[in-house]
Amino acid sequence: MATSKTIAVILFLTTLVASSNAAKKATTRPLAPAILIFGDSSVDTGNNNYLPDANFKSNHIPYGVDLPGKAASGRFSNGKLYCDIIASKLHIKELVPPFLQPNLSDTEIVTGVNFASAGSGYDDQTVLLTKAIPIAYQPTMLKSYITRLKGIVGEKKAMEIINGAIVIVSAGTNDFILNYYDFPSRTQEYPKVSDYQNFVLKRLEKFVKELYNLGCRKMSVGGLSPMGCLPIQITSKLSRGISRRCIKSENKDAVLYNRKLQKLLPAIEASLPGSKILYANVYDPMMDMIKHPAKYGFKETKIGCCGTGGLSDMCNSGSKLCSNHSEYMFFDSIHPSLATYTYLAGSSYATLSKLLDA
Ligand SMILES: *[C@@H]1O[C@H](CO)[C@@H](O)[C@H](O)[C@H]1NC(C)=O
Ligand SMILES: *[C@@H]1O[C@H](CO)[C@@H](O)[C@H](O)[C@H]1NC(C)=O
Repeated sequence: MATSKTIAVILFLTTLVASSNAAKKATTRPLAPAILIFGDSSVDTGNNNYLPDANFKSNHIPYGVDLPGKAASGRFSNGKLYCDIIASKLHIKELVPPFLQPNLSDTEIVTGVNFASAGSGYDDQTVLLTKAIPIAYQPTMLKSYITRLKGIVGEKKAMEIINGAIVIVSAGTNDFILNYYDFPSRTQEYPKVSDYQNFVLKRLEKFVKELYNLGCRKMSVGGLSPMGCLPIQITSKLSRGISRRCIKSENKDAVLYNRKLQKLLPAIEASLPGSKILYANVYDPMMDMIKHPAKYGFKETKIGCCGTGGLSDMCNSGSKLCSNHSEYMFFDSIHPSLATYTYLAGSSYATLSKLLDA
């Protein structure tokens, strides 16, 4: 008995030493060759800065106040976004630059860029209002990225990089908010939200297949957040004398959409040989933050740190700003704070890392 216990302890210690050595090595070696990002403002690191007509831009203070140099880079938050934090956890780089940035170095190109655009969606109609780059156009940007990549590292190496790249896709919220809930332009065509969800998911499927055809293999596709708890949605349904609370029906819709997406992704994966396509759950972690704010050090989950929560006061240089940004789940009336993105990156990392062994 005693002997086997001793052996167990020794084995345990050996494992510990081995895994801490592995951790040390990992800090110097990237876990994937590159990271590629697609979607909307939840992951746009500044593409909209280069779109003259885009209606959503965050290249002004107080956005970015917690970035090094307090740089308002075009990220819709006080600091790094989810995708930057993931890039850092993968030891690829600290910030993922927007592809539209004109002076991208070869090193930035080789380690991956961002194609996302704030105000974008799977439904092309979403960008009529926002003038963002539609999701449907982002594979075209990937094509010109690949051309540039091939020019730097050659044809064969370029395809190795694309095949091995971690791909993060995050969109969908704008489709529902801008075409269904706040501006009901799609409700005539799709009287039932379930039918509109199916339409959006068809578009998502087409998009994922296009990425695959261009060489992407390891993809993480985000579900919807609890949309009814976004400060802007709470404000939109606010009536006198009633305290701020989440719109239950919109959350219920998000749960249904996420269930469909969780069924769809394995089916897409099965139809695309060599692909690994994972669902990224943002709904449950965010709902946990709303239900148990103290666990996360949050004092406020229903109003953004910046602005008052309405559409007319999104967040600008004149807006009221909270004093401790980490006490707020949302930085403005739509977008999570750095604290929230940090928790989301932490909670999704174990799942995401399954892409590494695929
Ligand atoms: C490239 O442009 C960005 C944005 O204008 C700037 O912040 C950055 O310092 C520039 N980088 C280089 C290497 O010139
Ligand atoms: C800000 O809030 C965070 C989260 O609640 C807390 O950990 C931190 O101590 C606060 N900072 C200050 C200066 O009060």
